[in-house]
Amino acid sequence: MSNCWPEPIVRVQHLSESGIQIIPDRYVKKLSDRPGFEPAPENEVHIPVIDMLDLYSDDVAARQKTVGMIDSACREWGFFQVVNHGVSHELMVRTREAWVEFFKLPLEEKQKYGNLPSTYEGYGSRIGVEKGKSLDWNDYFFLHCFPLELRDQTKWPSLPVSCRELVGQYSKELVKLCGKLMKIFSINLGLKENYLQEAFGGEDNMGACMRANYYPKCPQPDLTLGLSPHSDPGGITLIFPDDNVSGLQVRHDDNWVTVKPIPNAFIVNLGDQLQVLSNAKYKSVEHRVTVNSMKERVSLAFFYNPRGDMLIKPAVGEEESPLYQAMTFDEYRLYVRMKGPCGKSQVESLKLISK
Ligand code: OGA
Ligand code: NI
Repeated sequence: MSNCWPEPIVRVQHLSESGIQIIPDRYVKKLSDRPGFEPAPENEVHIPVIDMLDLYSDDVAARQKTVGMIDSACREWGFFQVVNHGVSHELMVRTREAWVEFFKLPLEEKQKYGNLPSTYEGYGSRIGVEKGKSLDWNDYFFLHCFPLELRDQTKWPSLPVSCRELVGQYSKELVKLCGKLMKIFSINLGLKENYLQEAFGGEDNMGACMRANYYPKCPQPDLTLGLSPHSDPGGITLIFPDDNVSGLQVRHDDNWVTVKPIPNAFIVNLGDQLQVLSNAKYKSVEHRVTVNSMKERVSLAFFYNPRGDMLIKPAVGEEESPLYQAMTFDEYRLYVRMKGPCGKSQVESLKLISK
């Protein structure tokens, strides 16, 4: 893959802070793609909320009920929130604050981490390398946490000073939480408890990365998006949204619904690799982000993925035909890295033509 961006990179935060009232054409979406409104409380919905405490209850019925609720949430929504998830709220808040601090640093400091399309690691302002393509109203920082051989802390921000330590702890905790969810998903799909985790490379050897998203204030939020519709390419995504500003929208029954975040919860969403492994019993769900004229928004998206060289294919017995072709995650990920957010077109493209 080419190792430079097709055009000079413009930091959206810089555009926003310059005080422009009209956004550049590159950020204006075509009519059918525009959100049409600013997120308003009356458009917010509650996606399923799962209390994970019941998973550890002595009461078998309570445990089974929760496992069943997770299964319905996976089948009907592909998106849910978890509370009592075991990750320290203090750690969550401190990690987010560290990223807020990072984005507040002077531009020159952040530019030291400017990213390239070969790995995406670092400070970025676009996804995809197609020249002339419409851009999203967002800057981000992307980094690898696991497997350890991909973790290079010199590529993580050295400022604020707490950032590397916090991201290390945060990723350790979130990997544990994803491991628990993967076991429950495996059981719910009628697979061995460790099946999905093994398919991803095993407990200590799967992939995990993180994207801190910064959505600056936008003078014309009805014309653009913070992140265009996409499904996440990997396995599980844990989003720690901004408590103060909503913006994440999920496609549900052909409508875009705005998620109402619960304080201290994680939003869980299923990625394309779980759609493939489950042979479409679970589906990755399209989502997008709208922006706001009043407040900037900072969200942390943590991606639990197969290790890059794992060949991912439907987990089916002889009685069921596989719907998707096998592909390694490295190969799969190249597509979104080239094209940028593209709805669900990529996972659809893996569909085998039935004979
Ligand atoms: C993502 C994503 C949602 C958000 O980074 O893939 O969908 O709320 N983020 O920022
Ligand atoms: Ni996403």
